[in-house]
Amino acid sequence: MEKFIVEGPTKLVGNVSIAGAKNVALKALVASLLTREPVTLRNIPAIGDVALMIDVLTSLGKNVRREDHVVTITEDKPLSSTVPLDLGARLRASSMVVGPLLARTKQVKIPNPGGCRIGARPIDRHIEGLKNMGASVVYHPEDGYFWITTEQLRGGDVTFPKNTHTGTETILLAACLSTGKTTIHNAALEVEVDDLINMIRLMGGSITRSENRTIEIEGVETLHGCDFTIMPDRNEEVTFAIAAVVSGGSITVSHSQRSLIEAFLTPFRRVGCGIEEIDETTTRYFWKGPIHAMDIETAPHPGFMTDWQAPWALLMVTAEGTSVIHETVFESRFHYATELMKMGTHIEFFHPVVTQPETYYNFNWEDHDPDAAQAIRITGPNVLHNAVLTMNDLRAGATLLLATIIARGESTIFGIDQIDRGYEHIESRLCALGAKIRREDAD
Ligand code: EPZ
Repeated sequence: MEKFIVEGPTKLVGNVSIAGAKNVALKALVASLLTREPVTLRNIPAIGDVALMIDVLTSLGKNVRREDHVVTITEDKPLSSTVPLDLGARLRASSMVVGPLLARTKQVKIPNPGGCRIGARPIDRHIEGLKNMGASVVYHPEDGYFWITTEQLRGGDVTFPKNTHTGTETILLAACLSTGKTTIHNAALEVEVDDLINMIRLMGGSITRSENRTIEIEGVETLHGCDFTIMPDRNEEVTFAIAAVVSGGSITVSHSQRSLIEAFLTPFRRVGCGIEEIDETTTRYFWKGPIHAMDIETAPHPGFMTDWQAPWALLMVTAEGTSVIHETVFESRFHYATELMKMGTHIEFFHPVVTQPETYYNFNWEDHDPDAAQAIRITGPNVLHNAVLTMNDLRAGATLLLATIIARGESTIFGIDQIDRGYEHIESRLCALGAKIRREDAD
């Protein structure tokens, strides 16, 4: 295990290039299972979760070669149908191989992805959708695997009771090689889904996204290989935008996608942060004066993304006034707040009054922990001091790292494998902007 030693406070000033989107890269790798032909993927970030997904593909029988940000996948032997337990336990998205494997081998065994650090995160919506397409699903508690088989995946109507980003993608990946037409109702609108749709279309898939959250897929016999470049990571851009402001600096971001993060840029501008639109894909984010507090509530796209709420909390920690963050997508995504409290911030947890929580929250209400707050109230501004912290999830990790950069004194952060899962070479990129971060063994 490793830790970061961070000396603060430092301003972050300079240029950064946004890496490829983790939440597209993982699914694009899964989509390579849809064909036996070679697939080349470009702009793939060098992050832990991608390495794990490459291990999953290799364990299933694919040959995977990675050179810099290009991954080439070929196939020269029959595919296995079982995802190794340890890989399934470490990478929740590995369960998404179920669609392509069912289509190609008519059977698949995936470990129950189960809970993770931000909630129960079951895949009941995925499973119900697959059953609607002719899959039979049996959970074997003795080995922790879902055993899924089908005579032939057939097109059908899949209606999600609540939004699910990877659930929508799981059904997409299953439907493109099934017989007949599949219609997904209440499909997720996250733009990363559209990037996956673009890749499958490039492979010969027939997919149409229409109004009112509907996606139609016409199943085809086979799909061919492709050479596909994935989109930049919206979450990275949001993280660096906030890094610039909370550190009192200025960061020019290339591969910027302002139109895809409007739900963030609107409150970001409103609270007093600086934005300079240099050109279509270059944006300078900077501190231009005191920040004002503002309440936000997370929601599935096109709302304020849940992945942005942790970095946003750090912005509100530096803001003048009191602000509330209400998390409605996951049932326990405030562990980082407990860590920020160690640095001298005024944050309190509370339970907002919600009339119909069963429908208001995107997670399954029966999964919620009555003691876990769904909201925090921040009173600022706060001057942070150093602390010894532990990262709990990927986006929280980035937030805690930024907090130690702007805090007075030397901080230590454990659990940094969390941040390596989703941010490429994070400390070298931040040090190039002026941060003082050392990576050491945490023995
Ligand atoms: C995806 O997670 C992303 N992960 C998340 O990013 C992101 O925060 C989330 O979508 C929201 O946009 C990937 O794409 C790999 P959901 P996902 O299915 O698909 C519950 C990051 O840091 N639910 O939209 O798992 C679920 O527990 C990660 O990059 C069920 O109960 O999110 C959650 O509370 C974090 N049953 C809520 O719904 C299901 O079958 C939203 O889940 C499916 C979901």
